[in-house]
Amino acid sequence: MGIEEHRDWDSVDYTRLLSGDFFPPDFMWGVATASHQIEGGNTNNWSAFEPRSKSGQLSGDACDHWNRKEEDIQLIKNLNVSHYRFSIEWSRVEPQQGVWDEAAIQWYSDLVDQLHAKGIQPMATLHHFTHPLWWDEKGGFEKEDNVEDWIRFSVKMFEVLSDRVDWWCTINEPAVFASMGYVLGEFPPGERSFKKTRIVSTNLMIAHARCYQTLKSMEHGKRTQIGLVKNINLFDPYRRWNPLHRFQARLLDGMFNLCWIKGLMTGRFKAPSALRSKEIPGLKGSSDFIGVNYYTHLLATPFMPTKVDIDPLIRPWEERTDFRYPMYAEGLRRAFDMVSCLNLPIIVTENGVADDDDDMRPEHIRRHLQITGEAIADGMDIRGFYHWSLMDNFEWAEGYDQRFGLYHVDFKTKERTLKESGALYSEIVKAHRMPQVVILAGGLGTRLGERTKQMPKSLIEVSGKPILSHILDWTRTQGCMEALILTGHLGEQFDGFRHEGMALTFHQESEPLGTGGALWNARHLLQDRFILLWGDDLHPIDYGRLVAHHEQTSSPLTLTVTTKHDEMNLLHVDGKISQYDKSGSPPAEFNGYESGTSVVEKSVLLEHGKDGKWSWEETVYPNMSMKAIAHMDNTKFWDMGTPERLARLEEFLNKTSL
Ligand code: GAL
Repeated sequence: MGIEEHRDWDSVDYTRLLSGDFFPPDFMWGVATASHQIEGGNTNNWSAFEPRSKSGQLSGDACDHWNRKEEDIQLIKNLNVSHYRFSIEWSRVEPQQGVWDEAAIQWYSDLVDQLHAKGIQPMATLHHFTHPLWWDEKGGFEKEDNVEDWIRFSVKMFEVLSDRVDWWCTINEPAVFASMGYVLGEFPPGERSFKKTRIVSTNLMIAHARCYQTLKSMEHGKRTQIGLVKNINLFDPYRRWNPLHRFQARLLDGMFNLCWIKGLMTGRFKAPSALRSKEIPGLKGSSDFIGVNYYTHLLATPFMPTKVDIDPLIRPWEERTDFRYPMYAEGLRRAFDMVSCLNLPIIVTENGVADDDDDMRPEHIRRHLQITGEAIADGMDIRGFYHWSLMDNFEWAEGYDQRFGLYHVDFKTKERTLKESGALYSEIVKAHRMPQVVILAGGLGTRLGERTKQMPKSLIEVSGKPILSHILDWTRTQGCMEALILTGHLGEQFDGFRHEGMALTFHQESEPLGTGGALWNARHLLQDRFILLWGDDLHPIDYGRLVAHHEQTSSPLTLTVTTKHDEMNLLHVDGKISQYDKSGSPPAEFNGYESGTSVVEKSVLLEHGKDGKWSWEETVYPNMSMKAIAHMDNTKFWDMGTPERLARLEEFLNKTSL
């Protein structure tokens, strides 16, 4: 249960949230949604239940996301996040048993492609509270035999998407699904039966375990990360000195949190209110990560309301959210502690707040990210944070009255507007994310003999894989997640090229255009700031230091300069590049060599760029005398311009793993 801690938040210093080093460079920054809450036009167990729900509101066309997918992906992109968690609506994919709707499947496949094209990694949830009516009529999770239908759907989607989706959530919040549907009666099927709660809970765990084991055994199964999403709701005794309150808190904690976590840990599941535990085949070790959805704590007494619409007790200093439960960020750390016994990477798959006028959400974000950053600093393995939610949406039994979005949605016009909290979140994310990587990968190896006359040098294999893959390995360790690869005029040779954990975009030319021409033609794909690399050089430097230097000097262009090279090609004075000349016979005062890896503001390209064939470095560097900054770093860079250098690089890579 953990000790109920409270902080004096007024005295907390939030400066680290914008420092850029509170979270690791490869932290997964995301936003989350679920199909039924945003898509609109769904027919499933929820749409059938809605007339009987607490608010009586119908989901109807919701955010009309089904028809606004591209616009919404752009909204995600505008938040600077690297990841997006969505759920796949089974009732669309298999509207009747055994009948697959190929158009619906294609819609999700396009969603994934369009996310990747914008450098956003998808995370797919296979069950987020909703399922088709035909399956509900068969008894849904009340019958163990039904589980195989859901597995078939999961397999189908995994077959279609797992080549492009690395992150999968099996079931969202099984304890919420079971308790809201079968204890409190607020979710479909709206029952109050402990017996059914036990059965459904057990079947949810069976389904999760089977799903995990089945998907893991499929193609791409090993590569993908599959996990369960657990809502951690903390229960604290209202009066700590009162044994009845303590008893009640422990009881609820056991039923809502611990039995599920223990089940995952041991493979034996004791369903809420069950007397005995049951071995579930494949349950032990059935998660590659644990998804934590965290919202609040509840204060326990023996007389707690069993209806959500009666205000729960809160501490006098706590602030109520629109959902009436309090904002309690300290509990997020306790949630991490609670799941840490699983020894799994932790991902915050949901955290957010119902706040109609957005006056609480900025502080809510700051507090929960502060807690997350501190937990990481303390050594906890927390990989990511997904804000719930991208935009205001259909909040289940509460209908449209509870607004959780970073974007406000006008449900009449469907217009989306960024909230102040959304701007804050994107600012924090931006401070922690590496820029886009742009790789000039089209150059041919004129000095490498026959082998690269018709093949870009970046595709030459060194130590078992193309040099480009080694370069991307390095960019990934540095926290980069998206790369634009300028393939030159032989771009078809990159067909099918992929790199795990990175979203790649390719741009091909119809004729050789040089480095400058290739950048100019791809300018619509460039972000405002990017890291520029040469596709045939491996330059394993610390990007964090380079980008920080670029930022501190407010430079439009920062070049990495080494003094350890046999020839020199530039003169740097007071930290700035004064002259550049790569003709091969440099003046004696030249004191540095441009070693690759630079940070570029797109404005530089727009100012100096032109149509046709031209060289980036020979045009831009001389033109920017005393404007471009020199980032001094003597890390060895490996180029493969000649057969001897290629052999040395091979030797280096055989010994080192990046
Ligand atoms: C979670 C649920 C989400 C969302 C959120 C806010 O339990 O997974 O779908 O509704 O709560 O209440």
